[in-house]
Amino acid sequence: MDIKKRINELTDEVNYHNYLYYVLEDPVISDFEFDKLLKELSVLEEKYPEYARADSPTKRVGGEPVDKFSQITHHIPMLSLDNTYSKDDVIEFDRKVKRFLNFPADKDIEYECELKFDGLAIELIYEDGLFTVGSTRGDGVTGEDVTKNLKTIKTIPLKLLNIEDVEQARQAGQTGQKRQEIYKMNKPLKYIEVRGEVLMDKKAFKKLNEQRLKDNMPLFANPRNAAAGSIRQLDSKITSERNLVMFAYGIGEYSEELKFSTQFELMQKLKLLGFNINKETKIAKNINEALDYYEDIAARRESFSFDIDGVVIKLNDIKFQEKLGELSKTPRWATAYKFLAKQATTVIKDIIVSVGRTGVLTPVAVLNPVIVGGVEVQRATLHNQDEIVRKNINIGDTVLVERSGDVIPEVVKVVKKAGIVDSKDSDYKSGEDIGGRGDYFKIPNICPCCGSVTVIDGAAIRCVNELACPCQIKASIVHFASKRAMDIDGLGEMLVDKFVENKLIKTVADIYYLHFEKENIEKLEGFGKKSIENLLNSIEKSKNIAYDRFIFALGIRHVGEYVAFLLIKYFKDIEGIKNASIEDLNSKFGIGEEIAKSIYNFFRLKSNLDVISKLFAAGVNPHTVISEKIGQGNVSPLYGKHFLFTGTLKNFNRDAAENIIKEKGAIAEKTVKKSLDYVVVGEEPGSKYAKAIKSGLKIISEDEFIKLLNE
Ligand code: IVH
Repeated sequence: MDIKKRINELTDEVNYHNYLYYVLEDPVISDFEFDKLLKELSVLEEKYPEYARADSPTKRVGGEPVDKFSQITHHIPMLSLDNTYSKDDVIEFDRKVKRFLNFPADKDIEYECELKFDGLAIELIYEDGLFTVGSTRGDGVTGEDVTKNLKTIKTIPLKLLNIEDVEQARQAGQTGQKRQEIYKMNKPLKYIEVRGEVLMDKKAFKKLNEQRLKDNMPLFANPRNAAAGSIRQLDSKITSERNLVMFAYGIGEYSEELKFSTQFELMQKLKLLGFNINKETKIAKNINEALDYYEDIAARRESFSFDIDGVVIKLNDIKFQEKLGELSKTPRWATAYKFLAKQATTVIKDIIVSVGRTGVLTPVAVLNPVIVGGVEVQRATLHNQDEIVRKNINIGDTVLVERSGDVIPEVVKVVKKAGIVDSKDSDYKSGEDIGGRGDYFKIPNICPCCGSVTVIDGAAIRCVNELACPCQIKASIVHFASKRAMDIDGLGEMLVDKFVENKLIKTVADIYYLHFEKENIEKLEGFGKKSIENLLNSIEKSKNIAYDRFIFALGIRHVGEYVAFLLIKYFKDIEGIKNASIEDLNSKFGIGEEIAKSIYNFFRLKSNLDVISKLFAAGVNPHTVISEKIGQGNVSPLYGKHFLFTGTLKNFNRDAAENIIKEKGAIAEKTVKKSLDYVVVGEEPGSKYAKAIKSGLKIISEDEFIKLLNE
């Protein structure tokens, strides 16, 4: 065998499939086949290192750590963008552009709109088609050489494709073998500097921080810091594990074979060269369409898998861009229209400690109200004692708070310690010795709700008075009545508080005896006859419930909806679960020892069994959808099937879709695996979709899913 030739072929092939998978999201071979090619290449390279190419995909895994980064001066400075939060400023930007170009004010001028990625700006240099140097933006003039780290990012091509060939192949709709020829026919572009942003996916960020918490390492405040930290890593092996992505949005110097006359065309060419271009990149016929683009993106902001902080509006015509030129730091031909900040600074007025359903004490900061991302925020979670120590937080401190999605706002860091004189940059660094009042808040070692002792349980501090702690009782009743459990409409936190405080409810079972207390309820403030009637009706309605939701509602520690479903599937009903030994629980469906023990212990406590008996005595009637249907010889075609949902469905939210299939005895999975029977794809599916295609799984649309449900 001609080893050199084979190494060449494999390098081209793997790089090409990498592009299909990560950039075009249109893979043509399975993971298995891909791994096989990569494996063959790395075995050959190990034996014959002299033939290994500079653009070999095996180089992506990271190499020897470096001591420090060298400095790189950008050939053309990397500018920043003028930015605004106001619509009027954007309209003014359009007026100025037209004035500059001597354009009539009422004539349309075309813009190209992009997402404003909230990551780290970088520049990549390609010489004769090969990636040679990659650097951070730095101060715009000089950055750091982070080539090795950037090589580990799969959306950064190690070798450029040939524009004409790719275009031809795509137009001809060729697939498979023929498209693989593209790499071989490559006549590389002589020189180009490509600019873009490196980002960390929100999910990868969450996972990374969870791991760091376990490893006792400082957490990253947000995905941007995590991406920047990963790129400025001296050990590129660590970077390679960080799941970073890169989106290209511009260029620096380039050789003249590259031709384009608009910003949009440039982006298409970059895509053909192998770069990742975000699919939200659009043309706006005039500034009004650009404003619509902003509204559309702002509304969908949270649905992106990575953080964005606005949109960028760029003049589309390159000749016009050149005419307008640049100011010292920003171009005149573009502007960033940013979303309202998701972060703001404020003072912690107080720290209260709340007690949850499982007795965990959670510290919550009471803030001087502040507007964050257009919403007033009064409280922020401080998570646990470790987090308070790590961030050195106490009452009176000035802190940076952040809101992301609809999750509870969070304290990111202390900006200024209470009683501490402003430091130069007023940026307090966690762990710094500041003396005096720099101490942190200590969670009390007795339960603030019932006064009983607490124990340390991992990162949590827990009240041990499970059965008699009013806070735990309230929280478990709220859980029981919640939408995903018994779904008792109207029985929320406020009512539960009132009922518990007035001793109308002591356990969840008492909910079903409230109709005897009508008169007492009427005496409570804010209750009319009608509202009591409504509440009692929804309580009555909840008695008929699917068995797994009933199990979930009981609030057994570690038993979420899925475990509850499995318990019913394997043990049929309460009796079955109660009689199961730890080994039964463990072996039946592979739940961990800890969950098995928790279930077993729950059914050994007399107080829990009493509550269950009382619920049944009151007429709560959980039904096993699956077994009833089996008994009637009427099994749903979905029974036992494994489903995965990806993307946004039009007719259901994710929970609802999963609940429906579970009620029919199907299993809702969260990850792509071979055992899946159906992958239901909604709008804007994520990477799971690409993976599912690659794995050759059965993919169905929402309409097909609905048909299946009705069968
Ligand atoms: S264009 C001359 N496009 O925003 C134009 N920048 O405030 C310079 N950014 O440093 C950049 N998304 O890190 C451009 N679609 C996008 C962008 C973008 C994010 C960042 C970039 C830059 C900063 C400027």
